[in-house]
Amino acid sequence: MELSAFTGSAGTLLDIRNIKAFRGATQVFDAFSLQIDEGCSTAILGPNGSGKSTLMKLISGELHPCFSPDSSLSLFGRNRWNVWDLRSRLGIVSHDLQHEYLASAPGLNVVLSGFYSSIDTWRNQVFGDREYRKADEVMAMLGIGDLRSRAFGSLSTGEQRRFLLARALVNDPGTLLFDEPTSGLDLKASFLYLELLRKLMRSGKTVLLVTHHVHEIPPEIRRIVMLREGRVLADGSPGEMLSSAMLSALFDCPLQVVMQSGSCQVFPAFQDGPDISL
Ligand SMILES: Nc1ncnc2c1ncn2[C@@H]1O[C@H](COP(=O)(O)OP(=O)(O)OP(=O)(O)O)[C@@H](O)[C@H]1O
Ligand SMILES: [Mg+2]
Repeated sequence: MELSAFTGSAGTLLDIRNIKAFRGATQVFDAFSLQIDEGCSTAILGPNGSGKSTLMKLISGELHPCFSPDSSLSLFGRNRWNVWDLRSRLGIVSHDLQHEYLASAPGLNVVLSGFYSSIDTWRNQVFGDREYRKADEVMAMLGIGDLRSRAFGSLSTGEQRRFLLARALVNDPGTLLFDEPTSGLDLKASFLYLELLRKLMRSGKTVLLVTHHVHEIPPEIRRIVMLREGRVLADGSPGEMLSSAMLSALFDCPLQVVMQSGSCQVFPAFQDGPDISL
């Protein structure tokens, strides 16, 4: 990793050059590079095990790439951030967070914990009128104000997801990072949650969306990076990437794409069904 204070140019959200990264004994990335500009909402699309969550952990700082003098990873033009400064630039909503949260924490505490990027709130943390007002405002926007006193563990998956989004939004970050945003949500909750994502993008937020569900890529996404086995298979506009040929190659399976109202639906294109013996 390069150790100079600043790398990348202004206006660059993410600049990864030539990195190598492991999860346990598994090497997920080798000589991996990716640049994303601020303002360009982007989906990272790839099959199970392609390295999407690993990439997300590298961006959030939960995982570090291997040290090498010719590799670098910078966010917003800087390669070193503390959590405190980063929370006002980048909001993260992930499954891991949903699982890590204490079941007994009241919804309001989950939201307030965003001010400290902590799991739950602690006695030494100070919250004034400004913090409570902001938490109220964000909960009202997401329709969860009435659930503020409920224990996190007693909330439905969809409600929990909204509380974690509220936790990220209290800091007004310009960029939001989502890992599989609709997993575990029923149809209505998925559509409502995706509508929220769209509203956030229309209000000027940049979204990085990590997913293997093609249908959860909204029309506001401007770029799709296809990830396969830790490498960028293809990278371009949704018009270029969301074709039957490209998706069949990405998922290594014959697929047919149908576009409807700007959203992509995918169907199997097997002649006689896949060869499965039970
Ligand atoms: N803790 C770990 N120890 C060892 N290998 C791991 C660990 N976590 C992930 N891996 C491996 O790293 C690779 C990339 O995993 P990753 O979770 O980034 O994939 P993904 O694209 O997010 O998949 P999914 O769509 O299933 O969430 C996989 O081969 C996975 O088995
Ligand atoms: Mg994943």
